[in-house]
Amino acid sequence: MKALLFPVVLLAGCAADEDAKQLALGEKLYAQHCAACHGAKLEGQPDWQKKLPNGRFRAPPHDDSGHTWHHPDEVLFGVTKRGLVPPYAPAGYESDMPGFAGKLSDGQIRAVLAYIRSRWSDEVLKLRAEMLKK
Ligand code: HEC
Repeated sequence: MKALLFPVVLLAGCAADEDAKQLALGEKLYAQHCAACHGAKLEGQPDWQKKLPNGRFRAPPHDDSGHTWHHPDEVLFGVTKRGLVPPYAPAGYESDMPGFAGKLSDGQIRAVLAYIRSRWSDEVLKLRAEMLKK
């Protein structure tokens, strides 16, 4: 039995390593590409619930206080990659959220989103799982 357990433990250790690497990368990319608008602490822009004079939305928080966690992972991925274009927004919708296709690879986008997810509280994670259950 001992001989069998050993490799399993090693594999689990590797997976945890990969997760930690992805989160560290996501944190770095978040600071470089998202923090200017969404806030260094994911707090969003001041008065984010009020529209700008030009009618556009300000950058919402990505922490528990925002609505990022209301959306399924595919939507967050699509919005980050392509911006607020159909099917995520109506055609012609004007938004200051840039699409990151060409700037960030799919893996880098997943790392940023994993970092954002890692900052949500257990309560929010539980609510989200309930909300997104099909
Ligand atoms: C130039 C400012 C700016 C930068 C940089 C930026 N965003 Fe945004 N983001 C916005 C704005 C403004 C909105 C709200 C857009 C709207 O609703 O029209 C938004 C919305 C979003 C949403 C939708 C949130 C929701 O609850 O609907 C996601 C997801 C998002 N941003 C992710 C990111 C990620 C990840 C990065 C970094 C890779 C990033 N953004 C960088 C301005 C920015």
